[in-house]
Amino acid sequence: MTHSRRLGAAATLAGVLAAAPAAAATLNTAPFGSTTDGKPVSLTTMTNAHGIVVKFMSYGGIITQIMTPDRHGHAADIVLGFQTLHEYQTKSADGGLYFGALVGRYANRIAKGHFSLDGHDYTLPINNPPNALHGGLKGFDKQVWEVRPASTSGHSVGAVLSYTSVDGEEGYPGTLKVTATYTLDDDNTLAIRYQAITDKDTVLNLTNHSYFNLAGVGAPTGVLQQMLMVNADEYTPTDKTSIPLGQNVPVQDTPFDFRKPTPIGLHIRNNDQQLIWAQGYDHNWVLNKRGDATRPQLAARAYDPASGRTLECLTTEPGVQIYTANFIKGIYAGNGGIYRQTDAFTLETQHFPDSPNHPAFPTTELKPGQNFDSTTLFRFGIRH
Ligand code: GLA
Repeated sequence: MTHSRRLGAAATLAGVLAAAPAAAATLNTAPFGSTTDGKPVSLTTMTNAHGIVVKFMSYGGIITQIMTPDRHGHAADIVLGFQTLHEYQTKSADGGLYFGALVGRYANRIAKGHFSLDGHDYTLPINNPPNALHGGLKGFDKQVWEVRPASTSGHSVGAVLSYTSVDGEEGYPGTLKVTATYTLDDDNTLAIRYQAITDKDTVLNLTNHSYFNLAGVGAPTGVLQQMLMVNADEYTPTDKTSIPLGQNVPVQDTPFDFRKPTPIGLHIRNNDQQLIWAQGYDHNWVLNKRGDATRPQLAARAYDPASGRTLECLTTEPGVQIYTANFIKGIYAGNGGIYRQTDAFTLETQHFPDSPNHPAFPTTELKPGQNFDSTTLFRFGIRH
């Protein structure tokens, strides 16, 4: 697939600044094959007035494509992905890639697949030895979600994805009813709002696992030259199995200091034990928060000097896991060619890894009668 399609001037982000929206945002859902166990899957396409296209599947709520224009109006797909459902069911699942996925019930790791809640011990499948990762063997990323259009204004379109996770699924207590609302607006923002209720005390941590490359997927340079700012004074260092040690540590004088825009690759080869264990960045940053915590606040900003594309991420979540595709080593070909380490970065907004075993971390418990409500915004732009 080509990743440079010329867009008309009115459809570019440059046009955003100059002119009124050319056309209303659109949403369209079409069949996209069936899972290996015969469940029909749909692909929904959202577009906005400025040439941004976001596609996602009902399978795993997976975002398969995000097309955004560069500073010259050339559109490219800025997330790693595959062409077919089959490839997501095989390559992405076998490789533990989680490309574009809606991850749950518990995004990130739970140490040794074990936690206690209200005096009960729970055991989860160990799918990332010695730990449980990203919701288990068949987490939310491998379930087929119900998709229906969301009611929105003329300047945005959206869809509500729903899934009911039964009591005991993948070892987690309580029947959980969860929705994720994906909205694209004419301010070039993709919003993901997660809501959930449970009928028993449980733990919950939801994220989106898109792998971004602002130069466009398949760009041979990867993301090492792309600039990243992370609004975090601290991060949570881990043991060699990526489980937090328990303390928040200042980023100052470490390769984790992205408080000012810094090339992703500047310190990635530093002789640092954290980077060696993770084979790159694969860590949770503790986001700086001010005032109203129910309002999405700045988590990170990325910028590709070559194309001019920018990405801003805001969230209500306390942390963000940034992962530089460390475990992708040229085994899988997808849109744009063979994928390798440092071809992309993730911005997995989330609660901290292994929170159920760290009472001092912000809680991930959800109780009957509580409404889980979490929002993350990805705002696309260009800089000239
Ligand atoms: C997260 C984890 C990584 C890896 C990826 C998926 O980013 O922290 O270690 O498992 O998901 O491959």
